[in-house]
Amino acid sequence: MSAYVVAGATGRVGSVVARELLARGKQTTVIVRDDAKGTRWRGMGAEVAKGSLGDRSFLTTLLRGVDGFFVLLPENVPPPGFHAPRAQMAEAIAAAVKNSGVPHVVMLSAIAASIPEGNGPAKALHQLERRLGESDTSLTRLRPCYYQDNIAGMLAPATTQGIYPSFLPADVALPMVATRDVGRIAAAALADDSPATEIVDVLGPPYSARQLSAALSSALRRLLHVVEVPPAAHVRTLTGTGMPLEMAEAVAEMMASFAAGRITPCGHRRIVGTTPIDEVIAGILRPDEAAGL
Ligand SMILES: NC(=O)c1ccc[n+]([C@@H]2O[C@H](COP(=O)([O-])OP(=O)(O)OC[C@H]3O[C@@H](n4cnc5c(N)ncnc54)[C@H](OP(=O)(O)O)[C@@H]3O)[C@@H](O)[C@H]2O)c1
Repeated sequence: MSAYVVAGATGRVGSVVARELLARGKQTTVIVRDDAKGTRWRGMGAEVAKGSLGDRSFLTTLLRGVDGFFVLLPENVPPPGFHAPRAQMAEAIAAAVKNSGVPHVVMLSAIAASIPEGNGPAKALHQLERRLGESDTSLTRLRPCYYQDNIAGMLAPATTQGIYPSFLPADVALPMVATRDVGRIAAAALADDSPATEIVDVLGPPYSARQLSAALSSALRRLLHVVEVPPAAHVRTLTGTGMPLEMAEAVAEMMASFAAGRITPCGHRRIVGTTPIDEVIAGILRPDEAAGL
């Protein structure tokens, strides 16, 4: 039977990938860093491997003999560094993929990884795409656009100040995809018996900050005002929310590239997720209901 390894299974996209594979009856091993987080997965029929994506020997051993690997580069790295630990993780992952000979990798990248400079948080994703491309594995590079789920970060300013901060002009719409759609697309790519090496842009419905604010306003039953944050105040505003400085600088850099139209879909094909923002907001506000608890 085909066997798969899934990274990030305690997170948004990876959890959907693992659940979808299990639902298809596939032998699935999830990577966790904390034993307690593995219990739920054992209960669902998964194997659990405890280790880090930064540990190349752990990963090499785990990937030997499996058919496919879903990998991501986590953003929840311990501060203060952001780029350096992710670059180190990218090298460990690339070495493990090469040394293990795993035949297919589905990599969760980002649309911003398509450009070599000014890509902000996607800097190490660009590096990982390139390094994995040097191995013999069939490589599916999934490049989602902006996540709808990022709206969770707007709950605090919305509920405490009645504002919806926007880092782009309020009427500029970006395609936005729900992480649940990304997970389903990744699982389908992984379960493909004859995978091609390709770049897939993963898009979704277009939303402007004004439309997102209206959706959140309606869900919270509270009037919200869109506040356009000028580029010079991006880093200060982001660190004010508790984001570490290096990550805030990276996000500001990426926003500047989006605003300048430098980041556009350019993969071999595109898949468009259909989940609307209202469903994602409902899941954020009522997580137990969304999980069917
Ligand atoms: N935000 C966006 O709009 C956007 C758009 C396109 C692409 N992306 C990409 O999406 C990715 C994030 O996906 P997501 O939202 O599903 O992630 P997430 O919910 O933040 O989850 C991160 C996962 O990585 C795991 N992890 C963290 N450090 C690890 C380590 N050292 N070793 C092994 N596992 C580790 C976490 O496990 P623990 O439970 O142990 O922490 C968790 O399962 C990022 O790479 C980002 O570049 C984001």
